[in-house]
Amino acid sequence: MSAPLLELRGLSGGYPPVSVFRGVDMTVGNNEAVGLFGPNGHGKTTLLKTVAGLIDPRDGDIFFAGERLNTEGKMRPRTSRHLNYDLFRRRRISAESVVRQGLIYVMQGNLLFPEMTVEEVLDIAPQAARGRGGAAQMRDLVDAVFPRLRERWHSKIRFLSGGERQMVSIAAGLLALPRLLILDEPTLGLSPKLRIELCEAIAKIRAENVPLIVVDQNVEFLTSLVDRLYLFDHGAITREIDGSAMPSHEEVMTMMFGEAH
Ligand SMILES: Nc1ncnc2c1ncn2[C@@H]1O[C@H](COP(=O)(O)OP(=O)(O)OP(=O)(O)O)[C@@H](O)[C@H]1O
Ligand SMILES: [Mg+2]
Repeated sequence: MSAPLLELRGLSGGYPPVSVFRGVDMTVGNNEAVGLFGPNGHGKTTLLKTVAGLIDPRDGDIFFAGERLNTEGKMRPRTSRHLNYDLFRRRRISAESVVRQGLIYVMQGNLLFPEMTVEEVLDIAPQAARGRGGAAQMRDLVDAVFPRLRERWHSKIRFLSGGERQMVSIAAGLLALPRLLILDEPTLGLSPKLRIELCEAIAKIRAENVPLIVVDQNVEFLTSLVDRLYLFDHGAITREIDGSAMPSHEEVMTMMFGEAH
């Protein structure tokens, strides 16, 4: 079997000195979509920010396309007889090198530059593509899944609705020609109509074989989209569910919170 596209081995991290997630083993196969589902505030975003190189991991490793993205944490020789700190060289990871490899993280909360127009944001996004091929097809895909963006092409981001901003964020992620696209709560806070529009757009993106990690609070949407689902609770993966046995929302709730949820 070939190596997975992404592999997390025993990954732990958080906001020092606070530990948020620990011992996470997770894989995304080549051409696979996986989902991550769990309660609010339990560390999903922190885990994904670590994978994206925005936070250094505390322990464990992140492999992408066969290469380790983080540096090795190492003990280093003590330089002082009197001081006993900093003996451990921390694991480091750089967001720039992660993007260069084609691992593209679309953040929760669609953080965009409010004074830029849709056109300006989508003009700079391809710079992250670093010579990967397929730019023209990807532009066509973006036009096909987000026709609304052409209507708002010259609007500043600050005049867009939440759903439209989310579309710009995902479109920018796509124009970076991802080898793996991570979508963190892409339908959060949207009206029901826009939520459906976004879910359909993401399903179309998946139909073009873009490998995905998707976090969402809607179990039905996730299970219809992904090949495997990870349940995430209190900073750890508690269960991995194969595509052949995708559970209902009720069943997932029972798995996470027990019969009396
Ligand atoms: N920048 C930060 N500094 C310190 N603590 C943080 C920071 N961001 C988040 N936290 C804390 O880390 C924990 C995990 O938060 P995180 O955002 O990763 O959870 P989540 O599972 O993504 O939640 P949600 O479903 O609400 O998006 C929470 O206790 C949160 O308060
Ligand atoms: Mg989150």
